[in-house]
Amino acid sequence: MSRRILVTSALPYANGPIHLGHLAGAYLPADLYTRFQRLKGNDIIHICGSDEHGVPITIAAEKEGITPQEVVDRYHTANKKVFDRFGISFDYYGRTSSETHKKTSQDFFLNLHEKGLFRKKSQEQFYDEEANMFLPDRYVKGTCPKCGYAEAYGDQCEKCGSSLSPTDLIDPVSALTGNKPVVKSTDHWFIPLGELQGDLQKWIDTRKDWKSNVVGQCKSWLDGGLADRAVTRDLTWGVPVPLPDADGKVLYVWFDAPIGYISATKEWAAEKGEPELWKEYWQDEETSLVHFIGKDNIVFHCIMFPAMLMQHGDYVLPENVPANEFLNLEGKKLSTSRGWAVWLDEYMEEFDSDLLRYVLGTTLPETKDSDFSWKDFQNRVNGELADILGNFVFRALSFTERFFDGAVPTLSNPSEKDIEALEQIEIQKKKVEEAYNSYHFREAINETMNLARAGNRYFTETEPWKTRKENPEACGNTLYVCTQITAALSVMFQPVLPAAMSKLRNQLGLPDTISWDEVNKSLVPADTVVSQGSILFEKIEDDVVDKQVKKLEERAAQNAGTPEKEYEPLKKETTFDQFISLDLRAGKIVSAEKIKKSKKLIKISVDLGFETRTILSGIAEFFRPDEVVGKSVVVVANLAPKKMMGIESNGMILMGEDSEGKLHFVETDAEPGSTVN
Ligand code: 2FM
Ligand code: ZN
Repeated sequence: MSRRILVTSALPYANGPIHLGHLAGAYLPADLYTRFQRLKGNDIIHICGSDEHGVPITIAAEKEGITPQEVVDRYHTANKKVFDRFGISFDYYGRTSSETHKKTSQDFFLNLHEKGLFRKKSQEQFYDEEANMFLPDRYVKGTCPKCGYAEAYGDQCEKCGSSLSPTDLIDPVSALTGNKPVVKSTDHWFIPLGELQGDLQKWIDTRKDWKSNVVGQCKSWLDGGLADRAVTRDLTWGVPVPLPDADGKVLYVWFDAPIGYISATKEWAAEKGEPELWKEYWQDEETSLVHFIGKDNIVFHCIMFPAMLMQHGDYVLPENVPANEFLNLEGKKLSTSRGWAVWLDEYMEEFDSDLLRYVLGTTLPETKDSDFSWKDFQNRVNGELADILGNFVFRALSFTERFFDGAVPTLSNPSEKDIEALEQIEIQKKKVEEAYNSYHFREAINETMNLARAGNRYFTETEPWKTRKENPEACGNTLYVCTQITAALSVMFQPVLPAAMSKLRNQLGLPDTISWDEVNKSLVPADTVVSQGSILFEKIEDDVVDKQVKKLEERAAQNAGTPEKEYEPLKKETTFDQFISLDLRAGKIVSAEKIKKSKKLIKISVDLGFETRTILSGIAEFFRPDEVVGKSVVVVANLAPKKMMGIESNGMILMGEDSEGKLHFVETDAEPGSTVN
């Protein structure tokens, strides 16, 4: 039975161009999923658009000395176009500056307001007396109270990922004038998330098949207790708050942006000439709503927007939010301000979209951060797309063209191997389908490639170049089977490689409308004339990717004027109980010796007052044994013993690691055996 699915991908801010991090976070997985479900015959639409409000837009406009409208017009148009060129097949790409959106988000606000669901409260807020305005969110900068990063924004620290309020910052300054802001009070409307905590908790508990990174973040928000959140701001750019006592106030961008999914669906329906159709997707319980986002958007899509939808009551809640982690670039954190990014329009000037779709698809940060490197790009294009898939297709089609005048031979008296190879199509199809349905796109792509691998193995094992003369019937069977595998691949790889597979289907004389369920039905009848065509994937030479890395490095060097210190991201929150379960004690190092055959380890005896312990410490590259004797250190004294190089280590000595990787002892004046808290 056909399912109705509404896919959304995070509305990108229209304040800059699209880069690979955006693609890997939301748009590529959303497109892979959508294209697969379309092939399955499901009723699916993919909705996206530009997020055109909020402080990120106005700050970009101020930096460039143009109006916010000019900023969003420029990037909305550019981003829509580049997504299209890259083959992201949105059903509709809207924008939150549209009239439909203004009305939809104001109506949404009024609906909750009329039900008495908001709390109006006066709030102390920073104010810039020179610029004459309140300073919400990113208009304030300062030092992060959690990690000490000096350039944290009022809504978030981009170093450690903590979500902040402007007043949390240490030494706050206005991002507009650099002045120290004053505090003034102002009225805002709050959504009482605390009151909805129970309902949200219950709902999250029913989301059994959500990814653990997503559920983990939700749990940690819920465990920390939800606070009321202001849904209005003192700004001039945004959707005006539709109330008489709200002059100069607009809806908070994270209130209006997700409603943008609804407004864009309305515009899609209107454009189709069925203006009521959007309701089926948003208001019918049978719809599966799936939000594709990056991990920095989890709280908004899993707590805040669902809370709004619950309060409204007319809408379906998301069935899944398969958020991805972050993509790094050449081993480093992506940074647009430092130019450490690959922009999609730049990529498209030099390479085909399918290559990147494949390589990114196989390295998506599905469970943890992943890395894109140009070397890996080259290796996967050459070693997988060209050598496995391209090679298999070429072997099958060129052999048929050369020795059978392009006509697919008939299958007659197939061997066990022939039958097994045909059955392999069905086996892989099932695996790939399961992977797509459970949002495991890397696995889906690898299992699809495994069918090409199996095809290559079968071609090699059946040796058609020999059977051509010795046993023409067997040779014909090999080519028949290989053509069917090629045809199956041309559909199964369609979500990942839409351009190349469309070309391949053309070579096979197949229409563009084959459904997923036909894949294992021997798609190309005997006697069909197929054509070898040109090579599907050209190999990439070393100098081509070297040039890309050089370009990145040069740009990063140009932007190195304001070097930013790299801080380790904060680990997941821990509980007080977990923390105090560690027994930290002061100790004095009484002797130390190098361990033969180990470059890193030093064997240390530590006086803990009540006993002397042997501890192995990985500090040999930084200290000589005689240098550490006499130091007063902090020891984790209740760590389970661990054997290394045949010696048991009973604890750990705490060290600080500086930005160059050098180690420093954590020292204490307390006498050996004292507790450290
Ligand atoms: O993080 C971002 O880029 C936001 N513009 C995403 C918005 S998603 C949605 F709610 F619209
Ligand atoms: Zn921080």
